[in-house]
Amino acid sequence: GSAVVEHEHAHLSVAVSVAGLAVLGILEIVRSLYANRLAARFGARLGSAAFLAATNGPGAGFGDVQPLRDLATIRTFVASRSLFFLFDLPFGPLFLVLLYFVHPLLFAITLVGVVIMVIIALLNQAVTGRSGREAGDKLAATMNAAQTFARNFETVRALGMVSSIIEFWGDRFAQSLRASDKVARNNAFYSGLSRTVRILLQLAALAVGAYLVLADEMTAGMMFAASIISGRVLQPIDQIVGNWRQIAETGQAWKRVTALQKQVFGERHADVELPPPVGALTLDQVVYFLPNTDPGDLPLIKRLSFSVNAGECIAIIGPSQAGKSTLARLIVGAIQPRSGVVRIDGADIQNWRPDQLGKHLGYLSQEVELFPGTIGQNISRFEADPFDREIIAAAQRAQVHQLLLGLPRGYATVIGPMGVRLSGGERQRIGLARAFFGDPRILVLDEPNANLDAEGEAALERAILNARSGKRTVLLITHRPSLAAKCDRILMLRDGQIELYGPAQDVLHRLAQGQNKPVTQSAAANPAVGTANESRGLLDQSTPSRLQN
Ligand SMILES: Nc1ncnc2c1ncn2[C@@H]1O[C@H](COP(=O)(O)OP(=O)(O)O)[C@@H](O)[C@H]1O
Ligand SMILES: [Mg+2]
Repeated sequence: GSAVVEHEHAHLSVAVSVAGLAVLGILEIVRSLYANRLAARFGARLGSAAFLAATNGPGAGFGDVQPLRDLATIRTFVASRSLFFLFDLPFGPLFLVLLYFVHPLLFAITLVGVVIMVIIALLNQAVTGRSGREAGDKLAATMNAAQTFARNFETVRALGMVSSIIEFWGDRFAQSLRASDKVARNNAFYSGLSRTVRILLQLAALAVGAYLVLADEMTAGMMFAASIISGRVLQPIDQIVGNWRQIAETGQAWKRVTALQKQVFGERHADVELPPPVGALTLDQVVYFLPNTDPGDLPLIKRLSFSVNAGECIAIIGPSQAGKSTLARLIVGAIQPRSGVVRIDGADIQNWRPDQLGKHLGYLSQEVELFPGTIGQNISRFEADPFDREIIAAAQRAQVHQLLLGLPRGYATVIGPMGVRLSGGERQRIGLARAFFGDPRILVLDEPNANLDAEGEAALERAILNARSGKRTVLLITHRPSLAAKCDRILMLRDGQIELYGPAQDVLHRLAQGQNKPVTQSAAANPAVGTANESRGLLDQSTPSRLQN
């Protein structure tokens, strides 16, 4: 009878083992399913924030989307096993205590093991941490360079730069690979060391356990239990060392994303929605330093103060590099002054939520960027459900409706990488329509005529005159006297300071005479007023085509 019972026992234990393994397998599937879900949810939750951070980050202007890559790094980590090793870590001390009750000697061996392995982990971090960051930065820089070359590849080809940039880029890429390889080599060494030490210790624990069993100090079952528990303590440390690179990279990615998010979302805004402004504009002691200026350097915009009445049209003139475009970007809140305030209707523009302020502003930057989408979407600023009549009204205000109707697909013309390539003039005029979308109270136009032909310029002039008669505040950066003359006042900027500011005719007259004397109080107080010689001939009455340059 007992043989049968034993046989049944064996059957049962095989069945239990198989069932146990099946449960383990299912749990493993569930784990990775949920890890993937968690990662996806994480991505969905942080995606827009990372996008915002990417588009606002320091490298954004160069097409750097590091925060989005960081988010991908974090997502990969969440979906990976490394996360679970981290979760195992806090249970280590618990198992260690358990081991103590099995046998103090086994506890002591494992504790020594933990100490050695933690030292290995710390050494690993010390050696690979910094070089890992460097390798990451190098790779990011290489990818950014590739993006820029790809975007401008026609120029690259036309200028015969292809083989040169292949060499240039290849060299950079090789450097980043070398840096990465160095990190991997170090990590491989420590990871191997850690694994060897762990296995040695586990074997030692087993040997000591066997000895204790022979010395009748514990049972064989306890020996196996002790071996398993000791493995539970040591394994997570070992696995963390092995996966350290991914963990460290995720940590850096997390740091970067959260820091940027704070920066992007930490801006102060009033919670109440302010009414549409009337359009008065004041700059109060505005100082702006270029990014990465040395402590001793002068600011680009030097304590600039002036005001513009609602409905007034101001032409901003001045030589190249005077800071005109920077001034425009400060006024529309694209960049923030180091000190001083830009006010619209008396309210600091920092108190506006950018999306709300933007609706009341029409801004045309000097280098017009249109976005991948249709012309209609570009004009309506990618609003989800714009009214067609508002798009058309904007185009009409910008005097570009007829031009757009002339295109084969009209407003539905797709532009960007997948679509039509527009000429500089077309881009500028569509950008103007975008500025006019929603009939904003304040228009800031940075050299809107730079790429226009005679017909385009006449259209621009009509658009500006319309805006002026509609009591819109217009700031118009231009080199063309004929256009500046259409404005109420002219502000002449030089070296980040006001040189002249007064009624258009007065300023033009003074410039024509070469008597570049201050017209207003604020300019009079300004010590950097140019001499008459400097500006003589800037505006030759016989050929009044350009004010400067
Ligand atoms: N983000 C920037 N980084 C470095 N230099 C800049 C940046 N923006 C502007 N500058 C520099 O500031 C100066 C003034 O630029 P800008 O405002 O465009 O002048 P303007 O429009 O009057 O020609 C230029 O010398 C330009 O190179
Ligand atoms: Mg400019």
